[in-house]
Amino acid sequence: MNHVYFIGAGPGDPQLLTLQGAAALKGATLVFAPEPFELTFASFLVDKEVVSPFDYDFDDLINKILARLQTADVAFLMPGDLTFYAPFQAIIDHFDETAIVLAGVGTANAASARLKRTFDLPGVCNRAVIVSPKTLGDEEGMPSLEDLAGKGASLLIYMNNLPLAELCATLKRGYQADVPLTLLHRLGLPGEEIISGSLDTIVEKTGGRDFFNLDDPTGKPALTLVVVGETLTAKIDGRWWDYRREHIWKKRQKGA
Ligand SMILES: C[S@@+](CC[C@H](N)C(=O)[O-])C[C@H]1O[C@@H](n2cnc3c(N)ncnc32)[C@H](O)[C@@H]1O
Repeated sequence: MNHVYFIGAGPGDPQLLTLQGAAALKGATLVFAPEPFELTFASFLVDKEVVSPFDYDFDDLINKILARLQTADVAFLMPGDLTFYAPFQAIIDHFDETAIVLAGVGTANAASARLKRTFDLPGVCNRAVIVSPKTLGDEEGMPSLEDLAGKGASLLIYMNNLPLAELCATLKRGYQADVPLTLLHRLGLPGEEIISGSLDTIVEKTGGRDFFNLDDPTGKPALTLVVVGETLTAKIDGRWWDYRREHIWKKRQKGA
């Protein structure tokens, strides 16, 4: 029986494809690849039919997949993976047992590796919040971005739709302090840029560039992740390790 694979493809660099993902991709003859995966994964897509999922309405998409399943597997290259902000749930649910979802490297994972920072660091940060001002909405009684920002919180902000100065002003009301912030633009893709500063300095550091495609009438995804929080610059040393060893890990050891 053939399957529809929803492959966590990572932020765009095919080096971050898992072995499982590569095997599934190999067997598929029809691949749904959102921009820019049709380019960055080109060497994996030779002799396959490659289309953008966003060119089809739901029924046409389902019919196209069903027709191909008669003869071969079908694959979706999912940016990052399914865990956060993936638009493929309705298709996965539709195919039920025929759908196989493969985990991948999320943008958050790739960002952590690129920055060499863990996003929660006991003693510095006690929570990491995945958030998008675009999907938070403005319903009464719901927490706002400002409410989610605060001492000890790392924020990973996807799909930002606020001008950078407004985003920083909003976050500053929540943090009540100047806090480190990094923009990761086109992570792992041609044109990658990483700009680090703080809520007070980042606007100047970007020189007024629009990293979020806010001025682009096509609404093309900007591929910029914003990470905010004290963990970005916190300096810790061996005492951090020894404190945890003394209070947490030591007693787990056999015979302790
Ligand atoms: C629809 S969400 C997809 C997230 C994806 N499911 C994941 O787990 O990484 C798109 C947002 O993810 C972030 N993103 C995706 N790819 C990126 C990249 N290569 N570099 C920086 N940010 C990226 C951006 O914030 C972008 O607006």
